[in-house]
Amino acid sequence: MNIFLTGATGLVGGELLVTLSKRQEVDKIYCLLRSQTHAEALTRLEGVFSLHDDAFDSTRIIPVLGNLFDDNLTDSLINEGLNDVDVIVHSAANTSFSRVNDDLVEKANIGGLTKILLWAKQLPHLKTFLYIGTATICGKDVKDRVVHEDESPNLEATHLVKYTYTKMKGELLIREHLPEEKILIARPSIIMGDSRNIVPRSPVILWAMATINHLRLIPVNEYAQLDIIPVDYAANAIVELLFAPHRHYHVYHISSGEAGATTANKLSKTLSAYFDEMPPFNFISKSLLNQVKHWAKNKLQPDSELYSYREYLDYWKDTFQDKSKLRVLFAGLDPYLDFMELGHVFDNSRLLEDVNIPNSIPADIYINNSMKFVEKMDILEGAIDP
Ligand SMILES: NC(=O)c1ccc[n+]([C@@H]2O[C@H](COP(=O)([O-])OP(=O)(O)OC[C@H]3O[C@@H](n4cnc5c(N)ncnc54)[C@H](OP(=O)(O)O)[C@@H]3O)[C@@H](O)[C@H]2O)c1
Repeated sequence: MNIFLTGATGLVGGELLVTLSKRQEVDKIYCLLRSQTHAEALTRLEGVFSLHDDAFDSTRIIPVLGNLFDDNLTDSLINEGLNDVDVIVHSAANTSFSRVNDDLVEKANIGGLTKILLWAKQLPHLKTFLYIGTATICGKDVKDRVVHEDESPNLEATHLVKYTYTKMKGELLIREHLPEEKILIARPSIIMGDSRNIVPRSPVILWAMATINHLRLIPVNEYAQLDIIPVDYAANAIVELLFAPHRHYHVYHISSGEAGATTANKLSKTLSAYFDEMPPFNFISKSLLNQVKHWAKNKLQPDSELYSYREYLDYWKDTFQDKSKLRVLFAGLDPYLDFMELGHVFDNSRLLEDVNIPNSIPADIYINNSMKFVEKMDILEGAIDP
């Protein structure tokens, strides 16, 4: 099997690359990289393997230079002569939640995907187009319940961020371009850290947990269910799905399901046990977030409810000194709090039915292995590029 993989330098794509490279069924893995030179691309790929001391074989892992933003990406892929590709794994995406990146998100996740699909359509031996989607395409109208695969894509759904909208549109695009038998859609839930005791491939969602750990007074429903999985589980599940002898569906959640779900309350207990000298966690209503933001701008009305948490406001003053830091942190955290409040759990019974894989370990347990990395994290740096 020859695979063409996009997003190999990312959190999910990197773990997929290493996991796929260990499978005997896989001959070559072509990786799309937006590097300037072949040598630079090779160095980046080597880095994906060296992070956890995995073996890199340059005869099997082959860089292909290209950017989802290139107008001529389809033609340049055709000209590469990659006609032996029989599986495409499309993991590249712009995953930013920030409004300032909306245009880039659309350009990468819809425009870029279209270019890959136009190339995929003319491949002589394409068997499977595996799209790494996201379970959060269900949108924000669904709340506090188990969500099933066949509820999406739904054009009526409303979205917290452009990113989930573009991922929803992406699924529709794939169906326009390719016959159903070639489509496999894996929709991970929220991917945070790694369940192994190794340096995480990306700080992205761990950053939100590290920030919550520092803040301690958190405007979010602590009992809302959170469907979080580690990247090693996600990659194993997706690769097992690709090689599953019998797939009964074209779309699968890659998720914790009810059995492996967690809550902010449970995560806070794990954090409290490790960071035992910090103030206790206090979860307050999400409606107080605006008061927090006003306080950080010195504009909070004197009779505001937030003043009843004065010991936390004093703690913030002592810890951060400069209130602008708090403004930056809460601006970065804002979309994460919105997602946390939704209470989504993504049903994983399709995955467990068709793939020989256990439930994921709950995040409040596996995250114990990442505490020393959480401790070292520069949360302000992460907030600037959430
Ligand atoms: N992380 C999660 O919690 C999560 C949850 C559900 C679903 N997903 C899905 O999983 C997939 C991968 O996400 P991730 O977390 O691995 O994201 P990530 O860490 O941000 O990685 C994104 C990857 O896409 C590549 N990329 C971005 N823009 C590109 C462009 N214009 N041209 C070529 N390559 C480009 C990046 O390359 P560079 O290294 O060059 O930037 C990187 O390899 C996405 O489709 C996402 O929707 C992620």
